[in-house]
Amino acid sequence: MSDMKELIIRQMDNGPEILKDIEVSKKYGKNYSLEKGRKERIINRLHPKELQLVVSEIIEVNKYAKTFRLVPKKGLLPVFQSGQYINIFIEIDGVLTSRPYSISSSSKQGAYYEITVARINSGFVSDYFLDQAKVGDEFTANGPSGNFHYNPVFHKDSSVFIAGGSGITPFMSMIREVLEAGLKRKIYLIYGCRNEEIIFFKDELINMANKHKNFDYSIVLSEPPKDYSGITGFIDANCIKSLVKNIHDHTYYICGPHIMNDFVEEALLSLDVEPRMIRKEMFGARQDIQNEPGWPSDLSGKEEFSIIINNDEKISAMSGEPILTSLERAGIRINVCCRSGECSFCRIKLISGKVFMPRGVLLRHADEKFGYIHSCKAYPISDLEIRI
Ligand SMILES: Cc1cc2nc3c(=O)[nH]c(=O)nc-3n(C[C@H](O)[C@H](O)[C@H](O)COP(=O)(O)OP(=O)(O)OC[C@H]3O[C@@H](n4cnc5c(N)ncnc54)[C@H](O)[C@@H]3O)c2cc1C
Ligand code: FES
Repeated sequence: MSDMKELIIRQMDNGPEILKDIEVSKKYGKNYSLEKGRKERIINRLHPKELQLVVSEIIEVNKYAKTFRLVPKKGLLPVFQSGQYINIFIEIDGVLTSRPYSISSSSKQGAYYEITVARINSGFVSDYFLDQAKVGDEFTANGPSGNFHYNPVFHKDSSVFIAGGSGITPFMSMIREVLEAGLKRKIYLIYGCRNEEIIFFKDELINMANKHKNFDYSIVLSEPPKDYSGITGFIDANCIKSLVKNIHDHTYYICGPHIMNDFVEEALLSLDVEPRMIRKEMFGARQDIQNEPGWPSDLSGKEEFSIIINNDEKISAMSGEPILTSLERAGIRINVCCRSGECSFCRIKLISGKVFMPRGVLLRHADEKFGYIHSCKAYPISDLEIRI
């Protein structure tokens, strides 16, 4: 180490300790200058800012969904917790946008991630995946994120997964992880679908339920055919009570359409399940934001407002679309990850004007105090001025 370096370190608050560390490390054969950047490399391996992924296989799930197997362009994939998602960036018709997708493959599988994309009404990115993506396509993605996973410290060992439609994807990863590893954790899966055609991973789920005593699988159809003899209706309190033994001995995880998530949460609360034992995953911003409680009754979602950005640029925005979408349409890129109002990557400062924020946005107290909002879940309801 040069004299100058030593002088600079010595003047730092914790300089003497750092110098002692360097001395000890040298004594045991470690060279600080060679170790430089090692910590960052380790952190980046576990929590990379960006991943380069290649589609290696596309698997039909049913008429409405496909699984995309993604391998790293180079190097290894970071580990993840079953239940987490990756946010995939994509350019469509000149618009650079992104969408999060839960990893549906097991976290024990290190060679690839699988995501399962479902068709929706008036889809944008989902249509692109289902109609245009092909083997060999490359995508950039944020590293695995999200808190919708089993936590051995806070969660009970017995889990009840309540899924609706494509909301099965994070559960597939969790179920595969537990059963493939031969863990003894009990899992109930209550899977609500409109009809049998829509059920994802049907054969695999039936096979797993037949093979593993600790996996209990029930399908609930809301629009069953006439001769159907299985469970029908909505997943309400009676349905849950009839399928799950000892209702208070489990952690509940819900993932499905917004309406279902709210409905099931109410049902669980009515059964006196503790709120902290109920975990929910939001699958993005809802398309029919006008139906969200608190939405201004005089707005239809189609109004156009202007947004002045950094006192410089002016773009137009529709009331029914999150500000983030309007920014992306205008070619303005900001940080983004969950698109659900939770991670705060997409924070912007609201200088003037009014926005509507639906339930489920996790704004920090400091953000609220200093006028920051999450652009992925803030809708313009007047002309705005923002800083990004
Ligand atoms: C944590 C998480 C996990 C998820 N996991 C899954 C999963 O496993 N499987 C799955 O299928 N889905 C999953 N989703 C949902 C997924 O992220 C997408 O929302 C879904 O695929 C629908 O995307 P979409 O673009 O087709 O539709 P939307 O996200 O509803 O987007 C449509 C919107 O795109 C905008 N748009 C339309 N055209 C344009 C344009 N030309 N330029 C710019 N914007 C435009 C409009 O605002 C339109 O309303 C998950 C979401 C989250 C938050
Ligand atoms: S992208 Fe996560 S809060 Fe907006």
